Amino acid sequence: MSVLIRGGRIVTAADDYVADLYIEDETISLIGESLDLAADRVIDAAGKYVLPGCVDPHTHLDMPFGGTVTIDDVEAGQTSAAFGGTTCHVDFVIQPPGQTFAAALEEWRSKATGKQVIDMGYHMAVTDLENGGTLEELATLPEQGVTSYKLFMAYKGALMVDDETLFKTMEVAAKTGALVMVHAENGDVIDVLVRQALAAGNTEPLYHALTRPPEAEGEATNRAIQLAHLAGAPLYVVHVTCKEAVEPIAQARDKGWDVWGETCTQYFFNSLDDIAKPNFEGAKYVYSPPVRDKSNWDVLWNAVRTDVLSVISTDHCAFLFDGQKTLGKDDFSKIPNGGPGLENRLQMIHQFGVREGRISLNRMVELLATNPARLFGLYPRKGTIAVGSDADIVVFDPEKQVTLSAKTHHSKSDYNLYEGTTVTGSPEVVLLRGHVLVENDALVVSPGIGQFVRRARFGEESLQRLQPA
Ligand code: URP
Ligand code: ZN
Ligand code: ZN
Repeated sequence: MSVLIRGGRIVTAADDYVADLYIEDETISLIGESLDLAADRVIDAAGKYVLPGCVDPHTHLDMPFGGTVTIDDVEAGQTSAAFGGTTCHVDFVIQPPGQTFAAALEEWRSKATGKQVIDMGYHMAVTDLENGGTLEELATLPEQGVTSYKLFMAYKGALMVDDETLFKTMEVAAKTGALVMVHAENGDVIDVLVRQALAAGNTEPLYHALTRPPEAEGEATNRAIQLAHLAGAPLYVVHVTCKEAVEPIAQARDKGWDVWGETCTQYFFNSLDDIAKPNFEGAKYVYSPPVRDKSNWDVLWNAVRTDVLSVISTDHCAFLFDGQKTLGKDDFSKIPNGGPGLENRLQMIHQFGVREGRISLNRMVELLATNPARLFGLYPRKGTIAVGSDADIVVFDPEKQVTLSAKTHHSKSDYNLYEGTTVTGSPEVVLLRGHVLVENDALVVSPGIGQFVRRARFGEESLQRLQPA
């Protein structure tokens, strides 16, 4: 199967030029001016951007959490991703306490097999090194292409680990070449504040944000940075939301430490005003770390512009408002934490980042595709447009107007965090390894086309062709 994409404006993290692109055997085989080649399929991209397929390093599909299970399984979540121009993501395997990492990985793989629409990899979330998972077993995961360990410093009584587990995992990562990821909030302090709020009769969604203050995120971020430095492990701080967390990351990066930070689309657009909405509507905006004061929006735009933060992910963790969020109707601490977002990242960041002049087009590609691929062992197979890379391509129409809504999105969630927002610029054709996934606003493949990706260790390039893991 060969594809010729003609006359598009090819935009990578580094380049911006008009050319033709030829795809053979699932990879990009030639880029040049006016290529005179026969192809099974020709796509006219004149006036369009030709972008690398976006990579989302932070998603939760089919995950048990908060007394329920996220509403998007692999098929629904990945379909939603494909419509939004994301062709590869890295999901979290959560080690159930008492289980080995091998058992956890097996369970997560079985949830995905046959349902995959895009390519995917896994991070391992370590919850228990006492019974089940061992340090020795953890050390074997990078050989299997699972090259990042995630630790939750919050969610006391559920996913939270203590500093001993955090530090021991960092020591393993330092030896195995894995990247350590942290959800950085002080779970002990939050637990005290939550109990105090409930005892005072404060049960509304707003108290989710008020009991998880920025200081709790700043403290945990700094603690993780210092411990990772001590252990000699590279660190990636997920979903950074506020000045208190941006500052220690900036300081560590100034010193040349191996520290990277990510924020998520929603933290540029949602705020305390949303979670304070009446009639329990605020529950739609309950995720962790929580929405912040609007003054943080500029802090985050500045951080992604200056590379203090290097990635924008979605933290897609979708629930229904009706039936799942409502579990916490009388107690905000029972509202499942998370929201949908896989589909709208590129549209929102293009509209409010690029079109409104906050970041360049190249920087958008770097934040949504190239840096996630580099940091998570997928580059240069994913995250760029180059000869030899997988032909994961988004033909993006910069003039297409779309109004975002739960009525039209492909997540199973019954609400959209950006409901009613009109954007100019949206994916028109999306290809995965040269196969057209989406065109004319329809999915044109059957699930099963996506593959598991073995990721390279931190700092190593991924040069091998895709192999089912
Ligand atoms: O609220 C969130 N973010 N839910 C997903 C789990 C996590 O903390 O990333
Ligand atoms: Zn988290
Ligand atoms: Zn998450």
